[in-house]
Amino acid sequence: MNIKQRIENLSKELLRHQYLYYIKAEPEISDKEYDRLFDELVALEKKYPEYAFKNSPTKRVGSDLDNVFAEKKHEIPVLSLDKEYTLQGLTKWVKKIISNSERELSFVVEEKIDGASIVLYYKNGVLDSALTRGNGMFGNDVTENIRTIKQIPLITEEKSDFAVRGEIFINKSDFLKYNKSFENKYSNPRNLAAGSLRNLKSSVVAKIPLNFLAYEGFFKNQFCNNHILILLKLKHMGFCINKNIAFFSSNVKDISVVPNEFPEIIKGKIKDISAYIEGKIKGRNKLDYEIDGLVVKINEIDIRENLGHTSHHPRWEIAFKFDSPIAQTVLKNIVIQVGRNGRVTPVAILEPVKIAGSVVSRATLHNQEYIEILELGPGDLVSISKRGDIIPAVEEVIEKSYENPAVYKFQENCPFCGSRLIKQGAHHFCKNKKCPERMKRSLIHFVSKDQMDIDTLGEKTIKFLFERGFVKIIPDIYKFNYDLLLKEEGFKEKRVDNIKKSIDKSKSRPFKKVLAALGFDGLGTSVASELIKNGFNSIDKIIEIASKGEKEEFSKIEGFGTITAELLIEHFTDNKNLELIRELKKWELNFKEKIESETLKIKPFENQIWAITGSFKNFKPRSKAAEKIEQRGGKVNNTISSKTTHLLTGSLSGSKLERARNLNVKIVNEKEFLDMLNLSL
Ligand code: IVH
Repeated sequence: MNIKQRIENLSKELLRHQYLYYIKAEPEISDKEYDRLFDELVALEKKYPEYAFKNSPTKRVGSDLDNVFAEKKHEIPVLSLDKEYTLQGLTKWVKKIISNSERELSFVVEEKIDGASIVLYYKNGVLDSALTRGNGMFGNDVTENIRTIKQIPLITEEKSDFAVRGEIFINKSDFLKYNKSFENKYSNPRNLAAGSLRNLKSSVVAKIPLNFLAYEGFFKNQFCNNHILILLKLKHMGFCINKNIAFFSSNVKDISVVPNEFPEIIKGKIKDISAYIEGKIKGRNKLDYEIDGLVVKINEIDIRENLGHTSHHPRWEIAFKFDSPIAQTVLKNIVIQVGRNGRVTPVAILEPVKIAGSVVSRATLHNQEYIEILELGPGDLVSISKRGDIIPAVEEVIEKSYENPAVYKFQENCPFCGSRLIKQGAHHFCKNKKCPERMKRSLIHFVSKDQMDIDTLGEKTIKFLFERGFVKIIPDIYKFNYDLLLKEEGFKEKRVDNIKKSIDKSKSRPFKKVLAALGFDGLGTSVASELIKNGFNSIDKIIEIASKGEKEEFSKIEGFGTITAELLIEHFTDNKNLELIRELKKWELNFKEKIESETLKIKPFENQIWAITGSFKNFKPRSKAAEKIEQRGGKVNNTISSKTTHLLTGSLSGSKLERARNLNVKIVNEKEFLDMLNLSL
């Protein structure tokens, strides 16, 4: 046998064994034997790549090369479903269909699996491409990822061109397990399934237990005259078909013709449909996959063809949806927000809609992937939820826009400065530090309530000051002569006065707030507090350690990793940042923490017992000095004994000094004491 033939035979054999193992669950050979054949094929394909099949079973393990998801035109119209949310509405639909028909009809009811819709195109029986639904005309080519799903046949016995529609989904139990490996970024199994299809590396997709169930077949020569037979044909061709289906007909003869190969199928009369649906609603949570409804389909193909479809949905089938969306509204537009650190966030601008008592008109769309998973575009009718009753979220597309069903394309350039957006991880970034939007956002962050709390400078005022060129960078907030505003519309004396007052007041904001207000990446209030608690309670100390590059000094702090440590070093060695700090110091902002005993974690005076004598320039009354000692973990006891370790002496010290000398107590004058305090600051 020549090499080419051996590769072909091995490929066919292995595909057959994959089918027996993954679909029929009736393997003919041992795992070891399978692995031997598989390894042989891998080795041959490596040596003779020219003979390897596009649909080789080795493709199931995926590749590490980056996928490109080109847009491709669908060969069949990829329609949506008409919907009903009540049993009453559904019964009415069924009755109407029956009364309009001259013949007796039968119906198939299937579960509507909540996953990602996919269309598989086979050429001459071989999987050629797999496209997402997209806008119904064009979908994204995700073939390489689809090939890794073991339940999808790569080659079938039906040697013709045909298409199969079905759902890719992940079991609830697997979702909990696998979402962890994506840092729990997907909010439900549907999003993980849709997100996986768009994963850049098919080798990653291969490790996710994605499932596929086929629910429609489109053949050039339609040899099946009803839906049940189409499902059966798909089953014979090696596709997985959902076992949980039901068949309803008023004709008893009809019921008896359901082939034996569907032993699990539930059979009933048309009038039983409602009861069946009620049962499915109750049993819904017992399934290990999510279903968001049921699909009621006419069984007879010729009647389907006579009824045809609208531009949106077939007239011969309807979805019965379990949950009516919390609210539905039109997505008017998607706009881009750029944060102070350059992170780009797409935001949905919605036709205002009321949910849980409040009106929602905007919702975050997180990033490009989220938009692609939902296949979202302006003009679409979408469902909105309010997660945890607070944050509004766009859940899914209910209907794509008629006029413009496109999926939103992420912008390539920053809409504010025009510089090219760079993708890092899940997000895009504008890397231009001079981007006017980023500069404005830094100012808005600095004055915000949680930071410097300059409440007279709201977003609008900041925007005005920025656009007029009055305040461009943070120090300008303190530098600007606000009296100049008296010439501007809307700024009366009282308002200007209030602005000046609140800016003055901000100078007493504590160090931790100043530190966080600078807006450095990864340095929020909690990191600032931890730094201070761990002894970094002045900017000079932080800068000193950063300049020496002593990463461990930061990373040893509980909750700080090396990433935080590296960021801190980067921020506090950056010349622009150091210049900013120098400038702000001139305006007397707090760059040192005023000590409160409970905020100081390290206790440099621990185990020391101090006595104090004389009077002091900097500590009036003397108890202020005692306070400083106690804040640092020391004790103060003014009678000198053998336990006394230190004596703090001011001017006019009396007999205590003598006694201390005799007992070998360390004597500390005011200047030395100040140095000790500063050292521990
Ligand atoms: S029939 C012409 N049957 O529900 C539309 N759809 O818009 C053909 N779905 O994302 C749809 N299970 O992928 C049909 N048994 C089922 C289904 C099903 C899930 C999905 C479909 C699409 C959505 C309908």
